[in-house]
Amino acid sequence: MYPFFLLSCIFLYAYIRGKSKRRPPLPPGPPGEPILGHLRMIPPKDQEIFFYQWGKKYGNVMYLRLLGRPVVVLNSAKAAIDLLDKRSANYSDRPPFVMFNMMGWDSGLFIMPYGRRFQRHRRMMQRYLAPNKCLEYQPIQNREARVLLQGLLKDGEKNSDNIIRRFSTAVVMRLTYGHQITSDDDLYVKIADDVGYALSNGGSPGGTLLEYFPFLLKLPSWFPGGYYAGFARDHQFAIRELHEYPFEEVSKQMEEGTAKSSFLSTHLEAYNRGEDDPQNTIADIKGAAGNIYCAAADTTSATLSMFLLAMIVNPESQKCAQKEIDAVVGSGRLPEFDDRASLPYLECMLHETLRWNNAVPLGIPHLSLEDDVYEGMFIPKGSTIIANTRGMTLDENVYRDPTAFNPARFLPKPEGNAEPYPDGPFGFGRRICPGRYLADTSIWIAIVSILATLDITKVVDVDGKEITPKVSFTTGVTCHPRPYKCTIRPRSEAARLLIEQADISDDY
Ligand code: HEM
Ligand SMILES: *[C@@H]1O[C@H](CO)[C@@H](O)[C@H](O)[C@H]1NC(C)=O
Repeated sequence: MYPFFLLSCIFLYAYIRGKSKRRPPLPPGPPGEPILGHLRMIPPKDQEIFFYQWGKKYGNVMYLRLLGRPVVVLNSAKAAIDLLDKRSANYSDRPPFVMFNMMGWDSGLFIMPYGRRFQRHRRMMQRYLAPNKCLEYQPIQNREARVLLQGLLKDGEKNSDNIIRRFSTAVVMRLTYGHQITSDDDLYVKIADDVGYALSNGGSPGGTLLEYFPFLLKLPSWFPGGYYAGFARDHQFAIRELHEYPFEEVSKQMEEGTAKSSFLSTHLEAYNRGEDDPQNTIADIKGAAGNIYCAAADTTSATLSMFLLAMIVNPESQKCAQKEIDAVVGSGRLPEFDDRASLPYLECMLHETLRWNNAVPLGIPHLSLEDDVYEGMFIPKGSTIIANTRGMTLDENVYRDPTAFNPARFLPKPEGNAEPYPDGPFGFGRRICPGRYLADTSIWIAIVSILATLDITKVVDVDGKEITPKVSFTTGVTCHPRPYKCTIRPRSEAARLLIEQADISDDY
């Protein structure tokens, strides 16, 4: 009898223990299909809007499954901050990015798994892109902003996208590789264009079939679903060139003693002296440099292109900013970084540009490292976590009339509505964009320079009627406005002269 009693006690204990450890329910979500989960329900385009609308029904923390993989979508800034910022130690891994790996980005921080190597790469970037380091880059940004104005004045109506892209590429090329773009047939520009194409046409990260069926990698590209594998293979050359060509050039310049100080030269010199992080290899240094370019150029130009579109469709806020700039800067010179503190409306405009149709609407997915419980919901280890920053910027509890471009919303009451600057356009936690200070200053100098000297307006058709461009976007990691037409004119004869006579010598 006694052993039986003991056995029952053990069972009872195990039962109670098991019961008390039983996990809380998963976050709510729509019912999925067996095996595929929600794979067929998620549209290939405009996923951020789809998640935002689902969120209204299922809540700010939503659970989905894709082929058995758990995916948690965060639709509110509060949930993203609570999990990705406050519990960042457990939420800073990345899911595997088969496609990017295959293209050759395996030494790129943005897809690197959490761990020692990640930390080394973060350190390199954070050091080089810290706010006080960014002060040193202001002469570069000033010069490139002037080149931007000259480009827009000359050819902006036909070519604004290329001219904007040239601006954001030139700034990062200069500080990553010490290279000054001088002509359109510059090999660096060619490589940058090829890489840009590979990035913006390779599907969204984690969104291609390849991510779920890696065996497709081995199939020829004509095989259904093998398209992206073929695409990845066909574009490896661009990523390889981005890593090899500048490295060879800068090494050569270093030998000749002509290298300009840059991210690459600084690390190579330290490496050669044995003073770089002892763990860093040449592949790490090349990879970090290549990643700075790829993360910076496309995001910054998408944001500036969005800004131009906002100016076309919102003439009132353009005028308002111009009035403020005129009062502070006058018409005898171009704006400078020192003017920034005196231009509060422009500051709001910059933040509204980052909020309104933000350039990276779903961020880059994180991966959770531990089982977790949040507000009574179970979040399993290994969940892909998607922070829907577009959904956050559309939150009616935070932003009145959220689809309108309205810089004044951030101003204190009664002039404005005292709404907070958006959380999340640069991501969250230990993965937050390390280039955000550089992005901020690049965008600021570009928009203040444009507004001080140029009028951006709607084109007029043959009957004299204004044509309002349709606001619509491409789908990818970064979201660009679709091509639009506009008129770009100097605001005055004095403004034209300021642009044409601006000093663009490279003396830094
Ligand atoms: C308006 C411009 C920019 C936007 C909107 C933007 C946005 C983002 C976002 C949303 C992420 C993902 C963060 C996360 O996982 O939570 C990210 C990551 C990253 N960004 Fe930016 N970015 C911009 C400009 C730049 C610039 C100028 C640089 C470099 C000079 C840069 C370098 C990076 C890098 C290296 C990562 C990967 C970080 C990691 O995985 O740990 N970005 N960015
Ligand atoms: C991470 O997860 C572990 C194990 O579940 C837990 O003990 C720890 O408190 C978590 N850390 C954070 C920052 O949430």
